[in-house]
Amino acid sequence: MRRLSRFLVLLLLLQLVLAAPAMAHGDSRPDKEAILLVAFGSSMPEGQKALKSFDALARKAFPGVEVRWAWTSRIIRDKLTAAKTPHPDSPVLALARLAEDGYTRVAVQSLHSIPGEEFSDLEETVRRFDGMPKGLRAITLGRPLLALPADLPLAAKALLEAQGQRKPGEAVIFMGHGTAHTGNAMYPALQYHLWMLDKDAFVATVEGAPSLDEVLPLLQRNSIRSARLVPLMAVAGDHAHNDMAGKEEDSFASRLKAQGIASTPVLQGLAETPAIAALWLEHLRDAVQELKEMK
Ligand code: CO
Repeated sequence: MRRLSRFLVLLLLLQLVLAAPAMAHGDSRPDKEAILLVAFGSSMPEGQKALKSFDALARKAFPGVEVRWAWTSRIIRDKLTAAKTPHPDSPVLALARLAEDGYTRVAVQSLHSIPGEEFSDLEETVRRFDGMPKGLRAITLGRPLLALPADLPLAAKALLEAQGQRKPGEAVIFMGHGTAHTGNAMYPALQYHLWMLDKDAFVATVEGAPSLDEVLPLLQRNSIRSARLVPLMAVAGDHAHNDMAGKEEDSFASRLKAQGIASTPVLQGLAETPAIAALWLEHLRDAVQELKEMK
């Protein structure tokens, strides 16, 4: 009995010694984990529903863990603020709020398609929150959909499988955003992997390379008469409804029509496409695992 109580006293002392460094800095907060999902954002309810569907998926995969959102697009946040429509915070504000609300360990997951400008900015934001005094103790960042070389064949396969059976001779064109950032290289890289599986699957971007102008002769070469148009974006928002499927003469649909190619738009975001959402969820699992391995 005496031996047992001596042992308990020792154990208590040991605990005090181990806890001392944290207490010396006045940081006695218990650890609390959270997930921050970060998207570009969307001003259209049609776009926002894709993010809601991923939200449900993340909550189901990590029951009991706080899940919050941030949007990287200031333009979209400002637009919704002006319309008095509630919307997620910026990443900076969301991370500050998490720390303020007592969360100490946060896995951030990017829902961007490529590691472009939006992701670079997010990376920088996360880096600055890392080790901030009285802030978060640990923070990790999950990579976008197309980031590592190993992501590309998986994404190509999932993108094609998500289309199901296509009509004979029907091409599929995945419309990416495109950027002047080096991350744009992910689009031609994805194109390579798509062609390994399907000669009639193409990537064309709105603002980068490859452009639709570069893809049109390839469609002619393959004698394509019809094409399915799919946004290569988390949400089917403004770009998908206007630049891809819109009636204006510079939309993808109109430019294809001018070449005698009929198109069918698929107005579904990748975040609500199960096979692709599953890949993003894997990236989130990696970020959560990395967080667990951090002190
Ligand atoms: Co844009």
